[in-house]
Amino acid sequence: MQPRTNGRSILVVDHPALQDRLAQLRDRNTPTRSFRVLLEHVGALLAYEATRSLPTREVDVETPLLSMKAARIAQPPVIAPILRAGLGLVPGFLQIVEDAVVAHLGFYRDPQTLQAVPYYANIPARLDGRRVFVLDPMLATGASGIAALRLLATHGASEVTFVSVIAAPEGIAAIQAAFPDVRIVVGAVDAELNEHGYIVPGLGDAGDRLFGSLTSLPTFVAPRSL
Ligand code: URA
Repeated sequence: MQPRTNGRSILVVDHPALQDRLAQLRDRNTPTRSFRVLLEHVGALLAYEATRSLPTREVDVETPLLSMKAARIAQPPVIAPILRAGLGLVPGFLQIVEDAVVAHLGFYRDPQTLQAVPYYANIPARLDGRRVFVLDPMLATGASGIAALRLLATHGASEVTFVSVIAAPEGIAAIQAAFPDVRIVVGAVDAELNEHGYIVPGLGDAGDRLFGSLTSLPTFVAPRSL
């Protein structure tokens, strides 16, 4: 099966190896320890497709038999997992792009404005000319995704790919409206969001299933500004 693309901005990776793992991730009976491993595999399979167009540079290599020209990845990309569930895609991504720089992005939902507000951001100072991959297993409303893309844009990021395991049509539309140049790579596009903002049929709360926590309500102290 070939990856399906809609113009240049969205790629649905329908490789059987990925779809097989996705079916297991969706299964409510899959335990945390298996969920973590499956998400790592899916991260690698998504990374394999998402990084296909990374620029390469020519290098000279001496094989045991001859000298030859070969290709290396020109510049390590930046991967930016959105906390916390995005962390589950990092190990698989790093299998494919071992030298990637890992940025971290955390957001909370302001109870008054319902906006995604950054509470933690560790990003290289400048991202101009760098390939950046935002990692979030569930592209639901797109609110934290858009907040992440805004934050990365303030650091000069312009070549950004958004990588998710499952996306809702609402989230894809929101990202495409706010950032038409951002490429989206996903394992599946599900039917819709429910009234609680969960993707259906989806796989439930990716962070809770990855970390074995019982609730998705985080306890933290919000900083005044970032
Ligand atoms: N985040 C999740 O973990 N799951 C959803 O279905 C939506 C957002």
